[in-house]
Amino acid sequence: MTTVALVPAAGRGERLGLGVPKALVPVRGVPLLVHAVRGLLSAGRVRHVVVAAPPAEVWSTRALLAAHDLPAEVVAGGADRTASVRLALAHALAVHPGTRVVLVHDAARAFTPPLVIDSVVEAVLGGAPAVIPVLPMADTVKRVDAHEVVQDTPDRAALRVVQTPQGFEVGTLRRAYAEAGDSATDDAGLVEKLGVPVLAVPGHAHAMKVTTPFDLAIAEAVLAGGSA
Ligand code: C5P
Repeated sequence: MTTVALVPAAGRGERLGLGVPKALVPVRGVPLLVHAVRGLLSAGRVRHVVVAAPPAEVWSTRALLAAHDLPAEVVAGGADRTASVRLALAHALAVHPGTRVVLVHDAARAFTPPLVIDSVVEAVLGGAPAVIPVLPMADTVKRVDAHEVVQDTPDRAALRVVQTPQGFEVGTLRRAYAEAGDSATDDAGLVEKLGVPVLAVPGHAHAMKVTTPFDLAIAEAVLAGGSA
């Protein structure tokens, strides 16, 4: 019944403009990656966490997590996110052959409540091959063409915003990655391509992805316990 969480954090992305990869951006003085790994391990259902780090930073990432008393495993990531997840998955399957459930989690969603993490695992253990946490759409959404001309207005009631961790029965994720191309940004999307059903469960506002300086300010407030 082992559950393993994979955290792809091998990107050099510096879109936050703070001069360090996003996973190392501090919130209340602690890097996002540390918050994310701590959150996964503090959810009752996650046994092991495997982080994919930039190849040159495997040792420093190990040291960072050890300094925070977090027993995560760190592997060298690949050339893109898909390669990094694939490498982390291969490590997890080799080192933890009893793995039944695999989560894939964005380090940038560092403040995901343990309840969300556990409910994704519970749904997989309950028989769903793939599970994603979602929120309803607050905004109306338009589909536009290449010239920004509105084509249509999808029914908002049927749309969801997708968060992580995304959870998978191990064989399903392995098959999805065996058949994946090079540029998947959404693991559940790979499973959909197999024709396997993906179940949506309730996400949480605190599972927001920290992408912009504005998000960082919100994250600081969330951690301070001020905003919900
Ligand atoms: O750069 P992008 O936004 O696509 O990255 C999404 C996630 O994938 C980030 O968490 C990033 O660290 C990770 N990634 C990775 N290995 C890469 C590139 C990105 O693990 N080679």
